[in-house]
Amino acid sequence: MPELKRFSRREVAERSTKQQAMFIIYNQVYDVTKFLDDHPGGHEVLLDVIGKDATTDFKDIGHSSDANDMMKKYHIGDVIEEDKIVYQKPKAAWVDTDETAESMNDSFLNSWKFPVVLGLLMTVLYSYILG
Ligand code: HEM
Repeated sequence: MPELKRFSRREVAERSTKQQAMFIIYNQVYDVTKFLDDHPGGHEVLLDVIGKDATTDFKDIGHSSDANDMMKKYHIGDVIEEDKIVYQKPKAAWVDTDETAESMNDSFLNSWKFPVVLGLLMTVLYSYILG
């Protein structure tokens, strides 16, 4: 396997043409010149992101794992350390935020105190009625 090159984001932007179509996805540089006509999503969408960071576009389409495997073939290099971006991972929908957890704890009705206080009140009331 040939050694991977290192590119600055500027280099990718400046060197990309229709003859050498490159873009960046997750800090990795892809040369899709030979893939343009074979891309199932068409060549136009790819041409739109030539020279750019196409991570968001690529992710938003929800590419299959087959597509992710296919990418390896066009991976020619990585973005240099100084130009790397930390991409945000999507939050899992079921994870409670700290805020929600805290407000639940703060709520008197949701705490252990509510049934205890209710029990005490009932005891006092009963002994008052019966006594
Ligand atoms: C090397 C990079 C890429 C590879 C190997 C690739 C591969 C594929 C494959 C295999 C599909 C068929 C559906 C699937 O299996 O997910 C697809 C569909 C598609 N791709 Fe890509 N793709 C790449 C980059 C991109 C980028 C950067 C964009 C957007 C700018 C894009 C936009 C689309 C669109 C719009 C479709 C059609 C989705 C549909 O019809 O529902 N792709 N791609």
